Amino acid sequence: MSESTLGGRFTFPGTSLTVQRIGYGAMQLAGEGVWGPPKDPDGAVAVLREAVSAGVNHIDTSDFYGPHITNQIIRQALHPYPSELVIVTKLGARRPSDKSWQPAISPQDLTAGLHDNLRNLDLEAIDIVNYRAMGSVHGPKEGSIAEQVTVLADLQSKGLIRHIGLSNVTTAQVAEAQAITDIVCVQNNYNLAHRQDDVLIDDLARQGIAYVPFFPLGGFTPLQSSTLSDVAGRLGATPMQVALAWLLHRSPNILLIPGTSSVAHLHENLAAGQLKLSPQALTELDGIAAAAVAVEH
Ligand SMILES: NC(=O)c1ccc[n+]([C@@H]2O[C@H](COP(=O)([O-])OP(=O)(O)OC[C@H]3O[C@@H](n4cnc5c(N)ncnc54)[C@H](OP(=O)(O)O)[C@@H]3O)[C@@H](O)[C@H]2O)c1
Repeated sequence: MSESTLGGRFTFPGTSLTVQRIGYGAMQLAGEGVWGPPKDPDGAVAVLREAVSAGVNHIDTSDFYGPHITNQIIRQALHPYPSELVIVTKLGARRPSDKSWQPAISPQDLTAGLHDNLRNLDLEAIDIVNYRAMGSVHGPKEGSIAEQVTVLADLQSKGLIRHIGLSNVTTAQVAEAQAITDIVCVQNNYNLAHRQDDVLIDDLARQGIAYVPFFPLGGFTPLQSSTLSDVAGRLGATPMQVALAWLLHRSPNILLIPGTSSVAHLHENLAAGQLKLSPQALTELDGIAAAAVAVEH
């Protein structure tokens, strides 16, 4: 099996957008703290070109990464974009000069944010736009998102957005949004050790909606577990590859967008699609989250 299988294919519901299940998250391409230019701009361009030439056709981004810079690097590396490339962005935040992440959720903010994405990516419409609720730090918080989803639906009716997704949301917020418009994907914090969304994932799978975990490798605090290392050692794989393979096995609607600024890590992550996890390995890996919860309490 070659890297080009990339976990098989997935079609976003009600769309003609089909992607390989292993994609790429572009957040790591900006400078430290997701701010400013990368230390190695040529390296950032190389990662994107390597990803696409290896068959990646799903890139997750945002104009508030950098800000603006990550999208500008994507344009520099990949424009004119291959017809099969699906670029997914998100709206709902802005980055003031103190480098913090602030909500940007008024109709004017959301519209301006979309135009920033269109300009910096050099696109006339975006394939998928996620409304990214700010919630708490890296988790969702209940509260109506109807106004913001309605703005995205209006921008969709103007032809500027093809399809709509959600990020950092609760089950109730998904249902609220679905009463307004079709939702094709949900992007929340989820990985081997952080499994608050298990029920939501199964519910979305029944509806054919993609679930796209952010922090699939643990994000700013990389996953570490002796069980993960043991399983990886037995398979002759790296812990990060096993963490990604576990997500692919977890549910067929899970799409991966691991982030990296390194070509070597990129290839390591893409090769995770070739890993087969035995029922015993899956049972061991399933125990990691329970152990993590026990430690927290
Ligand atoms: N919707 C949201 O709110 C939200 C929030 C966060 C992220 N995201 C999206 O989700 C994507 C993924 O999240 P993320 O990038 O924050 O976290 P992640 O994919 O869980 O982890 C990225 C970190 O892991 C390292 N890494 C990647 N591959 C590795 C490998 N094979 N071996 C060792 N280390 C490896 C990267 O460093 P190197 O650069 O050194 O490889 C980076 O420090 C982002 O790129 C972004 O597009 C969305």
